[in-house]
Amino acid sequence: MSFRTINFALKILLSVSLLNISCAKHESTSLAPSPTLPMMENSLQKDMPFPMGAAVNVNLLKSNTNYRNLVIKEFNSITAENAMKFAAVHSSKEIWNFTDADYLIDFAIANGKRVHGHTLNWYKSLPDWVNNFQGTAADWENLLKTHIQTVVGHFKGKVVSWDVVNEAIDEDGTMRNSIWVQKLGVDYIGRAFQYAHEADPNALLFYNDYGQEFGPTKRTAILNLVTSLKNKGIPIDGIGIQMHTRVTQTDANLTAAISTAAATGLKIHISEIDIALNPDNNQSMVYTTALADQQAAKYKTIVKAFNAIPKGQQFGITQWNVTDGDSWIPSNYNRPDWPLPFDSNYQRKAAYQGILDGVK
Ligand code: G3I
Repeated sequence: MSFRTINFALKILLSVSLLNISCAKHESTSLAPSPTLPMMENSLQKDMPFPMGAAVNVNLLKSNTNYRNLVIKEFNSITAENAMKFAAVHSSKEIWNFTDADYLIDFAIANGKRVHGHTLNWYKSLPDWVNNFQGTAADWENLLKTHIQTVVGHFKGKVVSWDVVNEAIDEDGTMRNSIWVQKLGVDYIGRAFQYAHEADPNALLFYNDYGQEFGPTKRTAILNLVTSLKNKGIPIDGIGIQMHTRVTQTDANLTAAISTAAATGLKIHISEIDIALNPDNNQSMVYTTALADQQAAKYKTIVKAFNAIPKGQQFGITQWNVTDGDSWIPSNYNRPDWPLPFDSNYQRKAAYQGILDGVK
């Protein structure tokens, strides 16, 4: 074969490839997923060595094409931000509603995403019927068990892991005086894990909490809790470090939260990361390059610490919602803030590069 023939053949090959890329880009603006797109362009799911997830708002997933396409492209793991919580799926004693959660599951199956379940037991987002429930300790135990086993059973084989108990420890390291502790005593936590395990023995079960980077007090209390569960033979597989943190947090605290949790030998999920830029609620704050760079450096610190733990313990990193425009922080604290790696125009921020830099 002559050089000219080879050259011609290469040109044809190149034109076909470019045509494919341009078709794929065109498809990415429509609601229908392109099965080839995530592998062709750079993305978190392609470039990071462990699962990368986002908490997903089901209403936005249904109605917003940019949001949906960004989730399809960037992430290989998803968590329901609210759709699997008690009040969402079990709003009255006899009423179960899995419509939104099932939509999220169908989306995950169609697009090859792992689903992490959040959350089976929490003191917040409870429906009124639970807060007002009158009954004996046995009635409360039945309520706890029925809820956990109905939800886990419903998603058996589709949800690979659960936040079984969420935020049971207070800031001062004591057990939070939640309605569950009041009605059932602190040992209910171990039973919650056992009930979940009975309903799906293959699901990985996590204890999930925030503030592990605040300092040693809360962190130690959480580690004592999970260690004692483990020592009692309770089926616990991992620790969720929520990591709702702030740009002013020290690198030492961020790193210690991850390394001390990993020292338990359990799987580690950075389960709800966002890094607030405006923790002091400054109403006139504006987003600047300097702030963006500081945030990128903090994302890098966290990812680097996570990348340093043993591979078998790296369950993944999940950000809490997708873009700054969807984050719970601005509305919850009534302030401007920009906590996530994507801006409200669905563009990558400096923080995105910070994440990539964390594994270099
Ligand atoms: O859907 C209703 C809507 O119908 C109603 O009109 C509106 C009026 O307030 O409320 C809407 O529900 C809100 C829901 O988010 C959906 O937007 C709830 O009030 C609001 O309380 C709920 O907030 C969620 C919060 O958990 C409480 O469940 C946030 O979106 C969610 O980001 C936040 O997530 C938690 C994690 O589960 C646990 N760790 C901390 C994290 C942040 O707080």
